[in-house]
Amino acid sequence: MSTFDYAPAPESRAVVDIKPSYGLFINGEFVDGSGTSFKTINPATEEVLAEVAEASDADVDEAVKAARRAYTRVWSKMSGAERAKYLYRIARIIQERGRELAVLESIDNGKPIKESRDVDIPVVAAHFFYYAGWADKLEHSGYGSTPLGVAGQIIPWNFPLLMLAWKIAPALACGNTVVLKPAETTPLTALLFAEICQQADLPPGVVNIVTGAGETGRAIVSHPDVDKVAFTGSTEVGKAIARSVAGTDKKVTLELGGKAANIVFDDAPLDQAIEGIVNGIFFNQGHVCCAGSRLLVQESVADEVMERLKRRMATLRVGDPLDKNTDVGAINSAEQLAKIRELSQIGEDEGAERWSAPCDLPSNGYWFAPTVFTGVTQAHRIAREEIFGPVLSVLTFRTPSEAVEKANNTPFGLSAGVWTDKGSRILSMANRLRAGVVWANTFNKFDPTSPFGGYKESGYGREGGRHGLEGYLKTNEMGADS
Ligand code: NAI
Ligand code: MG
Repeated sequence: MSTFDYAPAPESRAVVDIKPSYGLFINGEFVDGSGTSFKTINPATEEVLAEVAEASDADVDEAVKAARRAYTRVWSKMSGAERAKYLYRIARIIQERGRELAVLESIDNGKPIKESRDVDIPVVAAHFFYYAGWADKLEHSGYGSTPLGVAGQIIPWNFPLLMLAWKIAPALACGNTVVLKPAETTPLTALLFAEICQQADLPPGVVNIVTGAGETGRAIVSHPDVDKVAFTGSTEVGKAIARSVAGTDKKVTLELGGKAANIVFDDAPLDQAIEGIVNGIFFNQGHVCCAGSRLLVQESVADEVMERLKRRMATLRVGDPLDKNTDVGAINSAEQLAKIRELSQIGEDEGAERWSAPCDLPSNGYWFAPTVFTGVTQAHRIAREEIFGPVLSVLTFRTPSEAVEKANNTPFGLSAGVWTDKGSRILSMANRLRAGVVWANTFNKFDPTSPFGGYKESGYGREGGRHGLEGYLKTNEMGADS
């Protein structure tokens, strides 16, 4: 328990203007759609924020038609240098309206304002700046410079605007137009982004935002005039998408789940490692596909690491996402909270030892105290399945080979962390770990210049960096300089 209390330091909500209802953004305008709607709520209070249109098959068809028209008539004809001007303009508006975007993201998603303000939104702007710079240099990309056409993009709720940026920035830079569906629990920043597209005078139809749940996503994926499907979300839905596009010539990238090992050797600087473990699993309430949810700690320092970790976890401030002191915000939805509770109960039933930080949780909203399980073995479900919440499983190892073997013993392969004082050990571990990203003496660092993506059930394709262009260009045609 913290030894003293902080005075509340809430960020003002007055900077955002949430409308009572939202339509679909098709062909540069907000339209009603064919009728049904759903509610988005603030997961920290359960307050209904807005009524949002649910796009039907017919609405998705309208959006795809608008994207096709914009592609054929305007966007694919424009020079890369001209497209770049729009992307730079969008990036600058995101910076100018950064505070508004951060507050809205925290209200709709539940993440702490210090994360939306200092991580999500700056990295969103950085993605648009980075890919703006590629738009007139695609012939040097190594993947040709021919766009695919219309991209259908489906994103999750854990980093709503950041996942939008990962999808839209490279697609537009390469000359594609898009139909994007945000997640049903977090549609509001995507709809504010639609207003930013208007503000930037982006030609109508280049970006279309259709809100809705799984059915709307399915309509995008199966639409015959979509050339590319980009998805981030659960492995289960990713597999369904892969099945549905098999046999078509749609290009697909999938960014799915993970169960990253965060490996701490006995020579690691322990103070930094503790911060890295905390950041690895409690950043964004653990709603992170690359979260360091499996701590592998060398046996000789395991007791000391656990003692320090629990002491640090007891100081984490859980509560109001808009409070600038908050470290851990609200769980995004009742469904996700139920899933975290269920898997944690299974962990206890399987015999692992559970410890949760002794914090007071608000009475309304969805909350889960930062939790660690010790005595976990490879066979435990909490060591194998993605919990996607603030729950850490701890395993021990004796030798580097045992650490590698345990780290790789998972159907996923998205990310990993290595904490050690020895540079040579970092290199040899990075070579042996089957993960798309390996962080050394840090964790959860994101940069638009660096490709991100997984192996095995974590998906395929890369987002970010030069590699991120490949998914939006025709690389397999005669004449493309692939
Ligand atoms: P989900 O995969 O159902 O949702 C992700 C997106 O896909 C949402 O926009 C959703 O509306 C859409 N969608 C759902 N069914 C679809 C379908 N049949 N066709 C096309 N689009 C569809 O994930 P959900 O239910 O929100 O979370 C379940 C679990 O997935 C989480 O507990 C977590 O373990 C994992 N997850 C992983 C994420 C990642 O970043 N890799 C992000 C979100 C969830
Ligand atoms: Mg919401």
